[in-house]
Amino acid sequence: MTTRYTLLQRILHWLIAIMVFGMLTSGMAFMVFGDEGVGSLVKVHMTFGILLFVLMLLRVALRVLLPTPAYDPEPPKLQALVAKGIHLLLYVLLIGLPIGGWLATSAAGGTVQFFNMTLPALLTATEETKTLAETLFTMHGMGGIVVLLLVLVHTAAAIKDWRTPGSKTMHRISLP
Ligand code: HEM
Ligand code: HEM
Repeated sequence: MTTRYTLLQRILHWLIAIMVFGMLTSGMAFMVFGDEGVGSLVKVHMTFGILLFVLMLLRVALRVLLPTPAYDPEPPKLQALVAKGIHLLLYVLLIGLPIGGWLATSAAGGTVQFFNMTLPALLTATEETKTLAETLFTMHGMGGIVVLLLVLVHTAAAIKDWRTPGSKTMHRISLP
C-alpha cells in the first residue's frame, strides 16, 4: 500500500499553494488600495485564478482516480475528521472562487482576461446583474478570507505534526 501521493500530486500541492498565496496577496491589495490603485494586477489575478481553477480540476480528478495513501500510524479519529473537513473546504473554495470571480466580473459587465485572451462572459450584463455583481464580489472577498484562515490552520497543524518525532505526514506530500 502506497504511503505517499504521486509526484504529480505532490507538485500540484506546492504549485497551488504558491498560487493561492499570490491570489490572496493580490486580493488583499484590491481590498486595501481599491481597484484603481492596483493597475493591471487585476488581469494577473484573473489569469492566475483561471490557471489555478484548471489545476484544481486536474488535482481533484487525480485524487478521485488514484488510491489514497495510507496513514502510518493512523491519526486520532477527531483529528483526521477535522483535517479532512479543512481539505474538503479548500477544494470546494478553490474551485468555487474562480467560478464566482468570473461570474461576478461578467455580471459587472467586465471582461475576463486569460493572458492576452478574452474569455467569454458567463452571463450577459444588464442593470440588474450589476447588483448581483456587488453581492458576488462581496462573497468572493469573504471566500478569500475563509481560504486564508483555513490555510493558516492547515499550515500550523502541518508544522506542528512535522515537529512531532516519528510523524510521517509531511512525507506524504513533500517533494523530495
Ligand atoms: C497555501 C495553500 C495550501 C493549500 C490550498 C493546501 C491544501 C491542501 C489539501 C487540499 C490537502 C489534502 C490533500 C488530499 O488529501 O487530498 C493538503 C495536504 C497536506 N498539506 Fe497542504 N495546502 C497548502 C499549504 C500547505 C503548507 C504551507 C504546508 C506545510 C507547511 C502543507 C502541508 C500539507 C501536508 C503535510 C499535507 C498532507 C496531509 C495529509 O495527507 O493528511 N500545506 N494540503
Ligand atoms: C482561488 C482563486 C481566487 C482567490 C483566492 C481570489 C481572491 C480574491 C480576493 C481576496 C479579492 C479581494 C476582494 C475585495 O476586493 O473585496 C479578490 C478580488 C477580485 N477577484 Fe479574485 N480570487 C480568485 C480568483 C479570481 C478569478 C478567477 C477572477 C476572474 C476571473 C477573479 C476576479 C477578481 C476581481 C475582478 C476582483 C476585484 C473585485 C473588486 O474589488 O472590484 N478572482 N479576489
